[in-house]
Amino acid sequence: MAQIRALRRVASILTTPLAPEDVIGLFNPLSSSRQLRGVVTKVTRETPESTTIHFRPGRGWNPHAAGQWARIGVEIDGVRQWRSYSLSAAVGHDPAITVTAIGFVSTALARNTKVGDILFLDTPQGDFVLPEHPRPLLMLTAGSGLTPVMSMIRTLVPRRPDADVVLVHSARTREDALFHDELLELADQFPGLRVEHWYTREQGGRRLDLSTVTDLETLCPDWRDRAAYACGPTDFLDAASELWLRDGDDEAHTNLTIERFAPVLLEGSGGEGGLVTFEKSDKEVEVGGDVPLLEAGENCGVVMPSGCRMGICRSCLTPLVAGKVRDLRTGEVHGDEGELIQTCVNAAAGPVHLDI
Ligand SMILES: Cc1cc2nc3c(=O)[nH]c(=O)nc-3n(C[C@H](O)[C@H](O)[C@H](O)COP(=O)(O)OP(=O)(O)OC[C@H]3O[C@@H](n4cnc5c(N)ncnc54)[C@H](O)[C@@H]3O)c2cc1C
Ligand code: FES
Repeated sequence: MAQIRALRRVASILTTPLAPEDVIGLFNPLSSSRQLRGVVTKVTRETPESTTIHFRPGRGWNPHAAGQWARIGVEIDGVRQWRSYSLSAAVGHDPAITVTAIGFVSTALARNTKVGDILFLDTPQGDFVLPEHPRPLLMLTAGSGLTPVMSMIRTLVPRRPDADVVLVHSARTREDALFHDELLELADQFPGLRVEHWYTREQGGRRLDLSTVTDLETLCPDWRDRAAYACGPTDFLDAASELWLRDGDDEAHTNLTIERFAPVLLEGSGGEGGLVTFEKSDKEVEVGGDVPLLEAGENCGVVMPSGCRMGICRSCLTPLVAGKVRDLRTGEVHGDEGELIQTCVNAAAGPVHLDI
């Protein structure tokens, strides 16, 4: 150990001002021990708005379970931005994410990523995963919510002759439907998969209605007997939760597993807001009581740590120096000096000082 430490000291003197890891990283960008990275190996346009980015991760990556997600970092205009993406590839394959361009980071990823680009990574996480024991399954997805479920289908259906999966997927049009051709081919090839597409435009603009059981009973009459997995926009998932609780059987709540891409905020939870001071960055901004501190910081140029942006990964924890914050999920006002604040789901409740 002493020899290794001595060698590192010599390497450090030779490579100053960069750390040895940074110099190695210039030649082999996947080898840095400081930050897990991956190199983009393939980019596939799926729909006009969505792109699949395949990557080969470096040392330190753990293989994903079907349905899990990872934090992905990308440099945009010199600033590293982090977002979370479900891993859409089958287990046992190099990972891939499928990004739909809806905002700042997703549009850059979906439109500008090229083979050979470097992505910053965190290891896969999440418990939206297949049940331990085989069960008949119902997958209920809309839009980009298909991505974690696609990993499940790609993993399960070709490998398990006893698989029994119904996928109900809603998209605006056939052109917008992710993985459309592959799903129909899989359903043709494997009797264990049935695919029901719902195209809102072809239904005269009528969305898949989960406020009553009618549509679901038509598409999947035995829905109550299946372990259900749902992923999609907030209102779609809220309607599914209510339907399962209201019209499912007694175990309905355990029969439905949900993955959300955006936080559930309490309506009207924002209060008076206030002046937020980012002390180390020497910046301050007046913000409304419904603006997450993460967004407030980013909007005035502070490099804020972040990940899921919905209160689950805790990557955004930032020490509070003074003031009170409001949790936008519950409306609770809290804050003690030194408390670590999840900036993605808390807003200012009066003047706030953050140690960043
Ligand atoms: C666990 C998890 C898995 C995810 N998996 C995927 C995935 O596989 N593919 C994918 O494209 N995105 C996925 N997302 C969403 C992704 O992390 C980003 O939120 C999304 O790409 C928008 O980032 P942006 O910077 O482009 O938008 P921003 O400029 O940050 O703003 C976009 C706004 O849209 C909201 N939003 C996030 N996702 C959606 C959505 N699907 N539909 C409508 N509004 C949304 C955000 O809360 C935010 O308010 C996932 C999120 C989580 C937490
Ligand atoms: S960014 Fe994940 S908890 Fe805030």
